[in-house]
Amino acid sequence: MGLWRVLVTGSLLVSWVLSAAVVGGGNLAPCDFQAFYNFGDSNSDTGGISAAFEPIRAPYGEGFFHKPAGRDSDGRLIVDFIAERLKLPYLSAYLNSLGTNYRRGANFATGGSTIMKPNETIYEYGISPFFLGMQIVQFDQFRARSAELYNQVKGTQEAEKLPRAEDYARALYTFDIGQNDLSVGFRKMSLEQLRAALPDIVNQLATAVQHLYQQGGRAFWIHNTGPIGCLPVNLFYVSNPPPGYLDEHGCVKAQNEMAVEFNVKLKDRATKLREELPEAAITYVDVYTAKYGLISNAKSLGLADPLKVCCGYHVNFDHIWCGNKGTVNKSEVYGAPCQDPSVFISWDGVHYSEAANKWIADHTQNGSLADPPIPITQACHRM
Ligand SMILES: *[C@@H]1O[C@H](CO)[C@@H](O)[C@H](O)[C@H]1NC(C)=O
Ligand SMILES: *[C@@H]1O[C@H](CO)[C@@H](O)[C@H](O)[C@H]1NC(C)=O
Ligand SMILES: *[C@@H]1O[C@H](CO)[C@@H](O)[C@H](O)[C@H]1NC(C)=O
Repeated sequence: MGLWRVLVTGSLLVSWVLSAAVVGGGNLAPCDFQAFYNFGDSNSDTGGISAAFEPIRAPYGEGFFHKPAGRDSDGRLIVDFIAERLKLPYLSAYLNSLGTNYRRGANFATGGSTIMKPNETIYEYGISPFFLGMQIVQFDQFRARSAELYNQVKGTQEAEKLPRAEDYARALYTFDIGQNDLSVGFRKMSLEQLRAALPDIVNQLATAVQHLYQQGGRAFWIHNTGPIGCLPVNLFYVSNPPPGYLDEHGCVKAQNEMAVEFNVKLKDRATKLREELPEAAITYVDVYTAKYGLISNAKSLGLADPLKVCCGYHVNFDHIWCGNKGTVNKSEVYGAPCQDPSVFISWDGVHYSEAANKWIADHTQNGSLADPPIPITQACHRM
């Protein structure tokens, strides 16, 4: 039992989020999170968009779950490694109506989600209608309805699958979103316009955190956005890049620079949030550096070319996406998976392989790329 529990049960006046001074400096007590709630896009969707629209098909999920599991990868996502580290079950997607268990939290992330309200339907470029503001609306509804239901079924088996009211204040709230705001921006705006929009985008994320804080949330673990210019999809349609278009690892420079700018603004905003929310423990996590580190060290780690894709057929200008069938040169081609996904960083050109996700999780969850530099298991401590 963590120290905070003793304190919390001992005195209602003691805030759950402990300052480092309370527990005595460097040796922070583990937080013993009872639940976690995630908000995000396909990087952390554990079944939402798959349940709401069309199921994600094989060979997705086959490496770990041995069947499609609503995830855009061959196996687990970073959010699944978070669950493992917190010793909590994998999160059920809020939108998944069957076989769900929300006792230890819920996942509001959906593939294709943006922070900003989208201006297009999912049928055009796959942008999800469940943008961050809507995920927060869903969280509120989830909370209200599950509380009502809990009161009706208290003492029965059914109640075991529902969250406990007292756990919201002792839950970890995790975020991984923003990548699609950049991809929409690259498609629809000039770099100048997108740059000008970044403060507003980052502010919307801060608004979500403020809302959860007002609802009693205290511990927040916020991933920054990855090196979007290193996603192989961004190179599929580039044949003769002009000099300076790509960096030394073959990533689209201007796109990565925009991601870095987003991250600088997000980090600043996180600092301000700590002032605005006096009892919040807010951890900003530099996932960008982990992902870029993995990509730049692919060779020494014994991995395949980071811009090569495990699953799908991508030759010249023919692109058959992972798990799809298509026609190339009048014959049918299947977007097949590679032999060994564990040596690939990119699973399908947009999403990371389970092996990459594990590496990124291992390099972020122990706090070495976090601000403040505390492991996720201690992310309830306000530093
Ligand atoms: C949405 O798209 C319409 C039509 O392309 C455009 O006129 C409008 O300015 C866009 N709004 C936003 C917020 O991007
Ligand atoms: C397409 O098919 C033709 C006839 O079978 C063959 O000669 C040609 O090499 C093929 N091209 C590619 C790119 O596979
Ligand atoms: C975190 O884990 C990574 C990968 O194992 C390791 O290189 C790093 O030194 C660790 N950092 C801390 C603070 O434990």
